[in-house]
Amino acid sequence: MNKITTPRGTQDILPPDSELWQYLENIIREVAQDFCYQEIRTPIIEHSELFQRGVGIETDIVTKEMYTFEDKGGRTLTLRPEGTAPVARAFIQHNLESNGLPQKLYYIGPMFRYERPQAGRYRQHHQFGFEVLGGKEPGLDVEVITIAITIFKRIGISQFKVLLNSIGCSECRPQFLENLRAYLRPFLPQLCVDCQRRVETNPMRVLDCKNPSCQAILNNAPSPVSWLCEECQEHFQEVQRLLGFLNYPFEIAHRLVRGLDYYTRTVFEVVSPELGAQNSLCGGGRYDNLIEAIGGPPTPGVGFAGGIERAFLILKSREIRPFPKIRVFLAYQERAFETALSILRDLRENGISADMLYESKSLSSQLKTANRRGFPFAVILGEEELRTETFVLKDMSSGEQKTLPYSRLLATFKEMA
Ligand code: HAM
Repeated sequence: MNKITTPRGTQDILPPDSELWQYLENIIREVAQDFCYQEIRTPIIEHSELFQRGVGIETDIVTKEMYTFEDKGGRTLTLRPEGTAPVARAFIQHNLESNGLPQKLYYIGPMFRYERPQAGRYRQHHQFGFEVLGGKEPGLDVEVITIAITIFKRIGISQFKVLLNSIGCSECRPQFLENLRAYLRPFLPQLCVDCQRRVETNPMRVLDCKNPSCQAILNNAPSPVSWLCEECQEHFQEVQRLLGFLNYPFEIAHRLVRGLDYYTRTVFEVVSPELGAQNSLCGGGRYDNLIEAIGGPPTPGVGFAGGIERAFLILKSREIRPFPKIRVFLAYQERAFETALSILRDLRENGISADMLYESKSLSSQLKTANRRGFPFAVILGEEELRTETFVLKDMSSGEQKTLPYSRLLATFKEMA
């Protein structure tokens, strides 16, 4: 019989990798708390129309990458490819505005895109996203950028670059787009079939087309910042000034437009040289028209989302093992089984990670298990220790052992923790 495996582009997250995942998720939640963002959980399926109207019908995500199906009731549903449109939908549906603005929300969860899988790019990937709904001030753009920076620093990624750009608003963007069209028209035959159409329908999408022949002709393309209206210019200047003031380095990336249609003004990405072709750790920007576009009241917004798999790849390559410092393995001789069992209970009840085998094995084989499973400490309980009411504490990395009174066991580990 054929073996059944994970669908292409998806993966199981197995121990010990799942521990590294938890470590990342915990830091993200910690940072969310530090910045006073509250969690929102939205369904994994949404009406397809949400992404068509929110993300844009000309984007790669909507035209090529959505997992869309009809349910038994004839509704057209889509596995969410991203989290911003669902958060905006929830904001409107539950009238979150009435709780006061701005609303600061975050989420962690799986997203689905039918892309060609490669290192760092999957069909099911996981994002952590932060969204501010109902605030137009440049300080909020800076806040979400600093959340991203804080997360990457706190998980131990220090080599990254913040790329920043502004793509204007509904006032000034039409002039830019006209200019871009005029630039692109002479190159029509060299563009991919999709971009030939996009030149007229949505020329900005040509700027982030992944096709090398399209990329090649963009070197001298006009950049959106040259066409910003006065208000957009002021906004962009203030974002840069505040980032500078807070000592967060960034680079202006004139061609950065991002692959989703909802962006206005600020767009940014954090990229890492430690990743390969898929070097974007996170991306985001302002979306002042999104909520209105999907049927809500005019409400500005700004946010970003990062890929957990990408942060994971970097940490994994450094062999970081984010286990608790104190993990104890109990190795015991058969007669000490009950003593070991009560120690196990006491340690666990006191929040100290501890484990032991329940089958009878030699001390040396139990210590081998402790070693293989990466326990930094072992407690050894043999006949001699039972008799003298002591235990042996073994440091598994140095091999050093000392004998201590049994009554000090719990206190010893509590002091180390
Ligand atoms: P995005 O740039 O499409 O933006 O995705 C955000 C991040 O998710 C990327 O920077 C990348 O780290 C990760 N990512 C995206 N696709 C994949 C994939 N196929 N495999 C692995 N990782 C991936 C958004 O989705 C926007 N909703 C971000 C946003 C929030 N903008 C404003 N608020």
